[in-house]
Amino acid sequence: MVTSIFPLQIRDACLEKSGTQIIGPINLEILDRGCTVVVGPNGSGKTSLLRLMHGLEKASQGYVKWNVPRAQAYASQCYVFQTPVIMRRSVRDNIAYPLLLRGTQRKTALKEADKWLENVGLEASGEKKAHVLSGGERQKLALARALITNPGILFLDEPTTNLDGASTKEIERLIGQAQAAGTRIVMATHDFGQARRLGTDVLFMYRGRIHEICAVDDFFPTPSTEEARAFIGGEIVL
Ligand SMILES: Nc1ncnc2c1ncn2[C@@H]1O[C@H](COP(=O)(O)OP(=O)(O)O)[C@@H](O)[C@H]1O
Ligand SMILES: [Mg+2]
Repeated sequence: MVTSIFPLQIRDACLEKSGTQIIGPINLEILDRGCTVVVGPNGSGKTSLLRLMHGLEKASQGYVKWNVPRAQAYASQCYVFQTPVIMRRSVRDNIAYPLLLRGTQRKTALKEADKWLENVGLEASGEKKAHVLSGGERQKLALARALITNPGILFLDEPTTNLDGASTKEIERLIGQAQAAGTRIVMATHDFGQARRLGTDVLFMYRGRIHEICAVDDFFPTPSTEEARAFIGGEIVL
């Protein structure tokens, strides 16, 4: 039996940049099911928390520990940036790339990429150079490239910022589909509607710390802190 990468345990973790602590101490456990939405004011540390969890940043104090060795955990995670990184090659090759990296034969990888092109609605664009895609199409490409590896956990940093309603709906459908297929989702968003549609639990970041964490159905109607209430109400909280 393959050992699960979960739980992810974060204990007293802090992140420093240029000698300043930007988040922490963070204490958090992530189990294998659900979709955690990370919300909070600009600069509250949402992106930094995702980067710390994924291992793009190293804790200056405390630790971030998976249930399996780091390299094994890393191979089972994907991170979709707010502005996706697009390689200067075709859309199909972009999507097939993670499989090629893992040693899959090119023919098999391209066949799998074709399935994903269809799933994300880019089947007519497979041969296009990826950098000609629109913002919404780029985000779909980034998701297909992440999901083709069947990750145990997917981190998304505000995946629909600057996208129109139709693209947002499509991206949300793909995230929901991934969750239904068993991928754990952790997503930063500033869109409360999206948080309610996709989230199972909410993690409210405030001044670099987890200020509140609870079920999504409790957070929006009945936040337990004054800061969360002010944030949901649209008052500026810094
Ligand atoms: N590389 C960095 N160097 C110095 N400060 C940073 C760096 N990255 C982020 N910060 C600071 O850390 C805080 C949290 O940033 P971030 O995680 O991007 O917040 P959010 O995603 O919630 O907007 C901000 O005050 C930001 O200015
Ligand atoms: Mg951010």
